[in-house]
Amino acid sequence: MAADALRLPMGVRRATRYGSGMTNVSGAGVVVTGGGGGIGRAIARRLAADGARVVVNDLDPTAAQAVAAEVGGFAVPGDAGTEQGVALLIETATDLLGEIDIYCSNAGTVAGTGPETPDELWQRAWEVNTLAHVRAARLLLPGWLARGAGTFVVTASAAGLLTMLGAAPYSVTKHAAVGFAEWLAATYAHRGLTVHCICPQGVRTQMLAGSGRAGEIVLAAAAIEPEQVADALTAAMAVGGFLVLPHPEVRDYYVHRATDTDRWLRGMSRLQQRIDEANEANEATGETA
Ligand SMILES: NC(=O)c1ccc[n+]([C@@H]2O[C@H](COP(=O)([O-])OP(=O)(O)OC[C@H]3O[C@@H](n4cnc5c(N)ncnc54)[C@H](O)[C@@H]3O)[C@@H](O)[C@H]2O)c1
Repeated sequence: MAADALRLPMGVRRATRYGSGMTNVSGAGVVVTGGGGGIGRAIARRLAADGARVVVNDLDPTAAQAVAAEVGGFAVPGDAGTEQGVALLIETATDLLGEIDIYCSNAGTVAGTGPETPDELWQRAWEVNTLAHVRAARLLLPGWLARGAGTFVVTASAAGLLTMLGAAPYSVTKHAAVGFAEWLAATYAHRGLTVHCICPQGVRTQMLAGSGRAGEIVLAAAAIEPEQVADALTAAMAVGGFLVLPHPEVRDYYVHRATDTDRWLRGMSRLQQRIDEANEANEATGETA
């Protein structure tokens, strides 16, 4: 037996990583939450260019409408971070598309800092970054399992595999998002569900622009364009790959964290020291993070 074959889990064929893969999205019904800007807009554009029919959701109705008009899709504005918002989105999108084949649960929020963050902001992070995926899956799974096919895309973050300094609610709820995506894939892959979990580091969007000193020091230098995230997603879709890592180095950091956690934490602590020093220097000159 070849060494490679030994590394593949039982039941996983060589050509696909774990899921069934989707090389052709032409005609597929797609929903993208937070599709009015940034990564969501790039995903909407990319899948529409490949022939998908796209419902663009966003908190900002003007942004949703602009992207929907551009890609020849439908705008369904609303809050993907509430139970009612997700339910209305899925009901409306099903009416518009007939079937939802691919659901991109992409909207996210980076509010808060450490444990001092008020409970309301922790709750909002939990609802937008984690529960939104749970609520969507709850509504989509019965139909997908009945037909034996469906693709669920979670935009998590490298913060969900590692951590994001200065942003505890974000890191914790993105870890939960990765955990839920893994659970879905492990539980339903054999029944036709394909799950992709996108875990980028810095991406040049509004969110990165608002991520303060940690964003500047840790993320900005290696930041990529949202279109590169969309490219990485479609590459993963073609082979049924679960983890979508538009920054390939994240795989090494993830291995490092798992195999030498203390050393990884020492490295993160050194980065935090640099951030603290930059903040102190800027406080002295009157600037804020
Ligand atoms: N930008 C990065 O560096 C980065 C890195 C890793 C992961 N991510 C993740 O990628 C996803 C998209 O982030 P982005 O950088 O494109 O953000 P962004 O802020 O640039 O744009 C996201 C869009 O989502 C919309 N939105 C926000 N909350 C929403 C909600 N509750 N319901 C519906 N729409 C909502 C916004 O109006 C905006 O148009 C998020 O889940 C984020 O956590 C971003």
